[in-house]
Amino acid sequence: MSEKINTVLANFDTQAQQLLSLYLEELDFVNLEKSFEDINEAFDFVLKSRPEILVVDISQKTDFVLNLISKMLTTHKTCKILAVSTDYSSNTVIKAMRAGVRDLISAPVIKEDFKSAIQKLKGESPVKKEKKSRVITVFSNKGGIGKTSIAVNLALELANITKEKVALIDLNLQMGDITTFLDISPSFDISYPIKNLSKMNSEFLLNTLEKYKDTNLYVLADPPSLEKAKEITSEQITGLMRVLRETFSYIIIDISPNFEKKTIATLDNSDLILLVTMVNLPAIRNCQRCLEIFQKLGYDENKTQVVLNRFMENDEIKVDDVESVLNKEVYWKVPNNYFAIMSAINKGIPVSIMNPDSNITQSYQGLAVKLADNVLKQNFAVKTDRTSEFNFMSLFE
Ligand SMILES: Nc1ncnc2c1ncn2[C@@H]1O[C@H](COP(=O)(O)OP(=O)(O)OP(=O)(O)O)[C@@H](O)[C@H]1O
Ligand SMILES: [Mg+2]
Repeated sequence: MSEKINTVLANFDTQAQQLLSLYLEELDFVNLEKSFEDINEAFDFVLKSRPEILVVDISQKTDFVLNLISKMLTTHKTCKILAVSTDYSSNTVIKAMRAGVRDLISAPVIKEDFKSAIQKLKGESPVKKEKKSRVITVFSNKGGIGKTSIAVNLALELANITKEKVALIDLNLQMGDITTFLDISPSFDISYPIKNLSKMNSEFLLNTLEKYKDTNLYVLADPPSLEKAKEITSEQITGLMRVLRETFSYIIIDISPNFEKKTIATLDNSDLILLVTMVNLPAIRNCQRCLEIFQKLGYDENKTQVVLNRFMENDEIKVDDVESVLNKEVYWKVPNNYFAIMSAINKGIPVSIMNPDSNITQSYQGLAVKLADNVLKQNFAVKTDRTSEFNFMSLFE
């Protein structure tokens, strides 16, 4: 009995309550504590009784209910929320995730969807949850393609949406510009934790990385000089990533457009590579070469996902063409919006803060939602020990 997971239903009419109760009865690990039609009564009960799972309908007065959820989670942090809604638009999904909802299913509820969502939440039980951390590197072997824009905005959105700690690391060691994009002057740069790797713990890291405003985003800047950049080795980068994984749920890396040893060490240590390209022939050709190189490096096909930046519906080359040339599906498209992105960069304010309603902000948010979901389920990291004899030139043969 003590193994059962206490669950509460909130904001459902009598008929829905009866139906969901029947579905829950089929799950032998669930104990349905109580069902409520009144949302305020439900939240009062949840705060007292502290069930592990709360299933709540957010179709009506969505903002109000999400606000209650968000407040409740500040006190009962481990409560896992399954939301049900007639509105399944990306806007609602994003708002729900920001409020702390773990999963959202559409109403009217389909029995199997509901049961598998509850099953999934059970798997994420805080008691059993092992800390998972995901390293996502935003890469291209071409400069000026939009890596930094994507890395910065994706990291910020992941921090806002998942409420987890996110690190944004500038491994563009010679010409990093994350600090310019965010208009920050961190007290420390990457050389500092690298020199102190053996002393690193969570507290040290959280004090070393620059917390961005009132968010869960922590930034590690590039070194201030070429000399300092040269001193950093690929082994140190691997070590840094190991300690970052212990503290941050997501580590987003912006990196130089090359295949130097340090870049390859970073890519080896990544769970996911977002390979950024644009819809023009030279960029697609480069992207194709990158995919070939990744294959030679032994990466699983799913470890790399293609992101089309500056996408326009009326581009002469169509997405289908890109996909057939690359023999790979395009994972995400970021629209072309020069005005929004340039005014954000020039002011040092992320575009999602400056222009929250723009198509480009929505695209970055959508990418974050997709990754937050996918990345939790998958682990693509290839732990490859590249020896010093590894012949890098063979990658280009
Ligand atoms: N979605 C977009 N729509 C329009 N313009 C964009 C978009 N993304 C990036 N840009 C433009 O491309 C320029 C380069 O972007 P960004 O600095 O993010 O690229 P990068 O790949 O990091 O470049 P580098 O290789 O120099 O580090 C930006 O200054 C901006 O003008
Ligand atoms: Mg850049």
